[in-house]
Amino acid sequence: MVAVAALIVAAGSGERAGGPTPKQFRLVSGKPLLAWAADVFANHPGVDRLQFVIGRGQEALFRQCLPCALKNSQAVPSGATRQESVRNGLLALDQTAPEFVLIHDAARPLVCPALITRVIDALRANSDAAIPMLQVTDTLRRRTPAGTWAAIEREGLFRAQTPQGFRFAAIRNAHLQLADRSLTDDMAVAERAGLRVVPVQGEELNLKITVDGDFSMAEQLLAGRADLRTGAGYDVHRFAPGDHVWIGGIRIAHDRAAEGHSDADVALHALTDAVLGAIGAGDIGQHFPPSDPQWKGAASSRFLEHAVLLAKERGGTIAHCDITVICEAPKIGPHRDAIRARIAEIIGIAVERVNVKATTTEGLGFTGRKEGIAAHAVATRSE
Ligand code: CTP
Ligand code: MG
Repeated sequence: MVAVAALIVAAGSGERAGGPTPKQFRLVSGKPLLAWAADVFANHPGVDRLQFVIGRGQEALFRQCLPCALKNSQAVPSGATRQESVRNGLLALDQTAPEFVLIHDAARPLVCPALITRVIDALRANSDAAIPMLQVTDTLRRRTPAGTWAAIEREGLFRAQTPQGFRFAAIRNAHLQLADRSLTDDMAVAERAGLRVVPVQGEELNLKITVDGDFSMAEQLLAGRADLRTGAGYDVHRFAPGDHVWIGGIRIAHDRAAEGHSDADVALHALTDAVLGAIGAGDIGQHFPPSDPQWKGAASSRFLEHAVLLAKERGGTIAHCDITVICEAPKIGPHRDAIRARIAEIIGIAVERVNVKATTTEGLGFTGRKEGIAAHAVATRSE
């Protein structure tokens, strides 16, 4: 039997935050906003089931950001307002019929396990609704139409957060009976249905990402929580007769070619190994044996794409990578931006998360003698 279900609403359009991607899918410290909250609920021992509400047409984005099924999670489509989205989520939980439901905004990535525990404990102590509340400490003013600042008595004012916990049957029926569709939280729905609401202590850090500036604050607060793993890669290819080389997914005209079974892209091979290293998945030779004819002349972007897919299947994203190409020629500088953009495209991350460097070895060694080309890479995977 499912005692406690978490209902995470992630179907808003994030208008106030702006940007091309709805805020719940934007990366914060290498992980989509929605995944932060989802992981906290999934890892909480008191939560048995996860239910998501997502925007219509956003199924692919959702699966990308939560590649593993967390506690038998399911997702249903949104309604026009937050309230309708919650209602859809509650109806989707009918079959599960949990005793309690914790309704949470995906836009609050910093929810902590202790707060979830407080809400569940308050429900078990026999209340219909348990709401995290915080006393207002700032001095408040209301701007009047006349342009003056009217004082507002702060005494007795509170801010309500999520997760808001409810006896499932009670909040489900309250949502179904309510005609007003504009309420911005479920406490308001509960009160209109006459449910008994008890406050629990909220968390100052449990902020709701609303405007663009909130992202940098969340980024700083979440940076220390990420499970970061870094892998290193190294590769060498011998030069042979030819008229171009592939470096970082870009074709560069040159008076030699790099010898190899595939397209011999030294930078992508080193980077693929770095990604595999970061997820504990061996090396490129294990996944794409040079003896296998299907890789003859293959574009190395396929190797990197595969490694990134493996990372996603394990529940991680590539947060950053850095590549150093070592050769006397060709000069990498003129192609640096194109290489960065191409690698960012293959991995599916922002170009700021990719760095490309190059160096010579001052005429020393095999690279100095122009016998071959080498590359180092590091990649950081964030869970
Ligand atoms: N939400 C939802 N369905 C809606 C509207 C909002 O599931 N129709 C969710 C949001 O995804 C968010 C939470 O409700 O997790 C709180 O809403 P809010 O912070 O207002 O997010 P948005 O509605 O996306 O942002 P905005 O109001 O700026 O457009
Ligand atoms: Mg909104």
